[in-house]
Amino acid sequence: MTASRSNTKISSDAIRAMKARGKKIAALTAYDFPMTRLLDEVGIPLILVGDSLGMVVLGYPDTTCVTMAEMEHHVRAAARAKPAALLVADMPYRSYESVADAVENARRLVAAGAEAIKAEGGREIINQVRAIIAAGIPFCGHLGMLPQHVHEEGGYRVKGKKEAEHQALVADADALVAAGAFAIVLELVAPPVAREISRRVPIPTIGIGAGPDCDGQILVTPDLLGMLPWFSLKHVKRRLNAAEQMRAVIEEWKNLI
Ligand code: KIV
Repeated sequence: MTASRSNTKISSDAIRAMKARGKKIAALTAYDFPMTRLLDEVGIPLILVGDSLGMVVLGYPDTTCVTMAEMEHHVRAAARAKPAALLVADMPYRSYESVADAVENARRLVAAGAEAIKAEGGREIINQVRAIIAAGIPFCGHLGMLPQHVHEEGGYRVKGKKEAEHQALVADADALVAAGAFAIVLELVAPPVAREISRRVPIPTIGIGAGPDCDGQILVTPDLLGMLPWFSLKHVKRRLNAAEQMRAVIEEWKNLI
């Protein structure tokens, strides 16, 4: 496949408009220059420097260990690829507990090269979301299973099966829309609830383990490529066994010298 890059810079408004056009959004994560460049050459319109960084690159047990300094370092590396794609960065754990911290840390991620930011939660962080948007920074919501809450939750589980959770997810999605978010990631949301929210809200929903009826899908790229053979996830179908192939090539080279 020939490598070519679009000259048209994708904004958060352009991502939002994809829903109105009925264009599905294919989003992926990247944490460095080469992966950002590759995804951009393929025409992925939204690239997330996710705090999944902690598990898939830095070897932490979960995302709660990721710091602002680590996020900034990886956002800078991804931004050096100057993607046409919208480059979104995750706000790490405890970086948006107050309105002042949220705005300051969102600005730091923008200074590192992010063009939009994402944080986990709905009504409980809505003042932070409003303040970030008022500061001129496009905001992507994240509802459902919130990995930064994995310790309180006691694991990763599907959200929205219980009626109270279902109603809370709908109210959180409405609140994020009213605050001005341009999109919402729905992680491990029961597929009928993800479908209902996707039909209800005017902004795109981007699902991960939330069924096929979201306006887009996002995956952690190393999961898609089979780079982490030590973990297996129900919602990801590996499209490549990159780890196996890398091991084989390294073995072959080792035996040549
Ligand atoms: O950190 C991340 O990669 C994410 C995706 C799972 C959506 O938030």
